[in-house]
Amino acid sequence: MQILALIVVFFAFCDSLQRGMSKRPSLSESEVRAGCPPRGWNSYDSFCWTISEEEFLQNAELVAQRLHSHGYEYVVVDYLWYRRKVKGASVDSLGFDVIDEWGRMIPDPERWPSSKEGKGFTQIANRVHDLGLKFGIHVMRGISTQAFNANTPILDINTGKAYEESGRKWYAKDIGIKALSCQWMRNGFMSVDTKLGAGRAFLRSLYHQYAAWGVDFVKHDCVFGNDLSIDEISFVSKVLSEINRPILYSLSPGTSVTPSMARDVSSLVNMYRITGDDWDTWGDVASHFDVSRDFAAANMIGANGLKGKSWPDLDMLPLGWLTVAGANDGPHRKCNLNLDEQRTQMTLWSMAKSPLMFGGDMRNLDETTFSLITNPTLMEINSFSSNNMEFPHITGAKYFKLGRYNLTSRPENYGVRHASEDLFMGLSSCKDKHAKGWSVKANGDDLEKVCWKENSKSEHQASFCLYKEKLLLEVDEETEDKRSHGKFRLLAIEGTDFCLGASASRKLSSKEFSRGSFSPCRLDANQMWDLKHNGTLANGYSGLCASMKRNQADAGTGGTRSWLATGRRGEIYLAFFNLNSDETVISTTISDIAKALPGGNLIHTSCTCTELWTGRNFGVVTSSISMVVQPHGSSLFTLNCT
Ligand SMILES: *[C@@H]1O[C@H](CO)[C@@H](O)[C@H](O)[C@H]1NC(C)=O
Ligand SMILES: *[C@@H]1O[C@H](CO)[C@@H](O)[C@H](O)[C@H]1NC(C)=O
Repeated sequence: MQILALIVVFFAFCDSLQRGMSKRPSLSESEVRAGCPPRGWNSYDSFCWTISEEEFLQNAELVAQRLHSHGYEYVVVDYLWYRRKVKGASVDSLGFDVIDEWGRMIPDPERWPSSKEGKGFTQIANRVHDLGLKFGIHVMRGISTQAFNANTPILDINTGKAYEESGRKWYAKDIGIKALSCQWMRNGFMSVDTKLGAGRAFLRSLYHQYAAWGVDFVKHDCVFGNDLSIDEISFVSKVLSEINRPILYSLSPGTSVTPSMARDVSSLVNMYRITGDDWDTWGDVASHFDVSRDFAAANMIGANGLKGKSWPDLDMLPLGWLTVAGANDGPHRKCNLNLDEQRTQMTLWSMAKSPLMFGGDMRNLDETTFSLITNPTLMEINSFSSNNMEFPHITGAKYFKLGRYNLTSRPENYGVRHASEDLFMGLSSCKDKHAKGWSVKANGDDLEKVCWKENSKSEHQASFCLYKEKLLLEVDEETEDKRSHGKFRLLAIEGTDFCLGASASRKLSSKEFSRGSFSPCRLDANQMWDLKHNGTLANGYSGLCASMKRNQADAGTGGTRSWLATGRRGEIYLAFFNLNSDETVISTTISDIAKALPGGNLIHTSCTCTELWTGRNFGVVTSSISMVVQPHGSSLFTLNCT
């Protein structure tokens, strides 16, 4: 019963949101399309093009049973549903498609038995609607090469007969533009000339047929990104706006898309891809950070769309049980992303309010994947958060494990390096030239930093800093110059509880560069440091000095990212992302978060804070938030501030 109540809230909110949008609601305008980012299932990641009616309906039933209550609503048949699955047929083959007398694609009757006798997708759409879901299909640009070669006549939907103009019938070869074939499926499809009445009549005949079948969602491929065709998008959008059925209009893929390109189409559609295809590799996940940041900054998230809103689309979620790109095969393998990487993907997709289209085979959905794609916090953020943006005010210090270590005994004994500089800190003899370069820097609010610069003469060079612990400075006995010569502890990150140590057991024992290490702060001589006049930072206990070296081998890793959004109950969502392949401590401050949000002068005095993936409750946080984030992993905080 509780779940049901939540569902009602979910849809009621999207409805009221939609109603609130149209200023003068009329009967036909009462439904505003894509009020929230659309959510559903798509067959591509698990079946490529090969899915059958039986497989599709099995998946649709499971979506209805398991995912619908979490907002997953559309079930979409991806490309080539009209291609016969026989020897020789593949993704870019020619001559295997089933077309009607007007050159329109119709479902392959062998794979889609209910489509026989001219029924098209009618029976499937009915079945999907009976399940309480909505039905979507993928379509390509323009006209098929097969229809062009067959030179089929064009249907005039106004007369039900062949299209005539200027006293003659028009055919496929009159409207197809061979030079504008789809770049990624050259044998398959080409643009039609929308300046010709016959070209427009052809496109109209396609989309009216989809509507007659009961289609609720069209994923229009090869008209955007590298294959941009504003003419076709504009005309299809016009046709869909005139059809008395609220069909969502989606564009795909979005290779090389920029916000300025998207501005020309966003009001014509409901969602549009902003990347190439996403598969289950870390590189694919990581490549979505820059582009989603840019679209958020350009205010494209939830901008006006076709009779409603439009959403930049980061592509389907290739999680669970999958096939491979371009295969003639159904699902046969597990997702290659580890759990941290999957969480990162779901967190970014949710914080960026991307449509969520699950791609795994529902018949083989493991519990971990199910929990992830239905996580209530992520679902809430994806549907209802606002002010979604990348948040640059974080610091990342890269930590790596030292010696023996495991997840349950964490966190202890980390080395540290500066995330953006590829610098490693270690311990060396105080005579080592790499041990020099340390100095004290005042840091505004009387917290002192001890910073290292490779070349102390260069003003612009980035430096690596540690934090002098405030408390101990005051407690320390008077010395003639305690600001620079008192013994002090050094914190990895302001506000964290990890102190730099120089354990004797980790004294230089081999030729290998020995790393400095952080461990929970203790009153331990091991953690006491002394800044000398010559710029060395000495540990009296071990007789070693902190030194900095570059590591070339590990250069070019991904750094750290963060996103911020506000919830509908006033809560703040903060996500940290670690794109590095080492554990990284990511930190920010409450005042920087407050400044980034609307009404920026509002200073929150304190926030309660919980983290999603660890379940950790931080209690009341007043100054900063820090977290050790796993390689390729993420942290997602919910803050309630007063
Ligand atoms: C990890 O560390 C904890 C605490 O030190 C220990 O109890 C546990 O056995 C260790 N696990 C493994 C797999 O080494
Ligand atoms: C810096 O000075 C200390 C003594 O204060 C000395 O032991 C050390 O060798 C010096 N290091 C360098 C690199 O000059």
